Amino acid sequence: MKDGIFKEEWIEEVQVAQSRAYTPYSKFNVGALLITENDEYIYGANIENAAYPATICAERSALVSAYSNNVKKFKAIVVVTDADEPASPCGTCRQVLKELCEDDMPVYMTNKAGKVIKRTVDELLPLGFSGKDFD
Ligand code: THU
Repeated sequence: MKDGIFKEEWIEEVQVAQSRAYTPYSKFNVGALLITENDEYIYGANIENAAYPATICAERSALVSAYSNNVKKFKAIVVVTDADEPASPCGTCRQVLKELCEDDMPVYMTNKAGKVIKRTVDELLPLGFSGKDFD
């Protein structure tokens, strides 16, 4: 499902991100493309580690890269894998998306065939825990 803001070129760009994955263990390459408020691209890929829990997912990789470059406002994130059906972000990535993105930001899950599934951050983590819960 695409919408008014989705751009076809994002499908190609997120595959550029995916091509940078470092996955000697799972061989499951994930790409994430963050679209900034100025329509710039921030690329993320999963970077694995022999100590498996030290692996960082593509979505968090993109978000950490953006914040490290002082970019903090996003229009959307696009994710791609080689799986037949578009894969959705893991629980940890959903929590980090909740922390660093607006609740209504679209998350586009795509596959190589160009299928797109859209959910907002809030839809991926309903009733999610956030800093507001400290109030
Ligand atoms: N992975 C991601 O990059 N994003 C997700 O949301 C799910 C999982 C990566 C982590 C690991 O490198 C590989 O996919 C297999 O789990």
